[in-house]
Amino acid sequence: MVLKLSKNLRKSLLRGHPWVYRQALDSNVLTQAQVKAHKTVALKDTKNQFVGWGYYDSQSPIAFRMIRLGADRPNAAFYQQQMTRALKARESFISPSTNCYRLFNGEGDGLPGLVCDVYNKIAVLQCDGYGAEQFWSKEKIGAWLVDQKVAESVIFKPRQKNAQHVFGAKAPQYIEILENDQRFEVDLIQGQKTGFFLDQRDNRKYVQSLSDKKNVLNLFSYTGGFSIYAASGGASSVTSVDISQKATDQLQKNITLNNFDPKAHQVVTEDVFEYIDQNKNTKWDLVVVDPPSMAPSESAKPQAIKKYIEIFAKASKQVTPGGDICFSSCSSHISFEDFSFIIQEALSQVRRNGYVCRVSGQGSDHPFPVSCPELQYLKFVHVRMVE
Ligand SMILES: C[S@@+](CC[C@H](N)C(=O)[O-])C[C@H]1O[C@@H](n2cnc3c(N)ncnc32)[C@H](O)[C@@H]1O
Repeated sequence: MVLKLSKNLRKSLLRGHPWVYRQALDSNVLTQAQVKAHKTVALKDTKNQFVGWGYYDSQSPIAFRMIRLGADRPNAAFYQQQMTRALKARESFISPSTNCYRLFNGEGDGLPGLVCDVYNKIAVLQCDGYGAEQFWSKEKIGAWLVDQKVAESVIFKPRQKNAQHVFGAKAPQYIEILENDQRFEVDLIQGQKTGFFLDQRDNRKYVQSLSDKKNVLNLFSYTGGFSIYAASGGASSVTSVDISQKATDQLQKNITLNNFDPKAHQVVTEDVFEYIDQNKNTKWDLVVVDPPSMAPSESAKPQAIKKYIEIFAKASKQVTPGGDICFSSCSSHISFEDFSFIIQEALSQVRRNGYVCRVSGQGSDHPFPVSCPELQYLKFVHVRMVE
């Protein structure tokens, strides 16, 4: 099966950008090809020169994802080489104090659309979209993961659905993990994403370093990633707010698991907007605000920017003079430039000012191709407020 470009994207693809949008494919060739989603397809440019091999997604605006440039068709040995390379790159994460990490980060590991998170000997596979779900053989990947002793059980977690068994021993619903010596219980079946937000590991460690003797507010806390690190960093009190009862129940368990005094932790199951409105006069020394992605598409971006400004303005008001606030966003459609604008607008709306102390993103087990900065989705900015 061969697809053909209708736009001259040869240079961009050769530079390593891995995607072709539908409007850049020759629609006549596409109709004739009757591409099967699970098959490897070749891509030629407008002059019929070979570009490389990838797979087709009939349901996504990203219609073709490049797997291998050049004429050599990817085979089992090629995929094993990519997976081995990814595993080798993670060796520095696996230690007695951390047993959870992202093993495959899709395009950033040359395995487009394929995600694999490892939680203490259980691997959770996830695919980015219909095409990836059809293309990647979960069973073959599962067998490799067990053979390499990366995992004893492999499950597949379709987005917004419960997990399914793939390979190896049957996985339990809950697993205890260790991240920088902090203990968390992860719900592998019903948890959000693959169960835990591994991408914030380095930012959580940073928040730990800011927390000594502070009273901390963690907004959109999920199961308490930032809360547990703040407590272990010496916070005098931690308040965590999330709308999901499942997440806050899990957070209570994580407090106990780490032997923290439950009296120093307030766990609130509520809408963050309502919580802030009811606690307008309370101030915190350190606020972390990590809302869910609000821009699922480029067209949703203007509305999402408004929403981020509103949340960040409200959160900024809760910070003591001279206190700290960490803003985060996981929306890939919001760039670092957009994010800087959002923070400036938010502070200006509530007449606060501050200094940017740190700008960071996802951890290094979430790599992305140099030529595809769209995949640098996580943004994290620490601002110290003016007194
Ligand atoms: C990106 S996750 C936060 C991840 C967390 N910071 C961590 O490190 O694990 C966003 C969280 O926001 C919660 N959420 C979504 N809308 C909310 C709302 N209106 N009020 C409170 N929590 C909300 C979701 O339940 C989810 O747990």
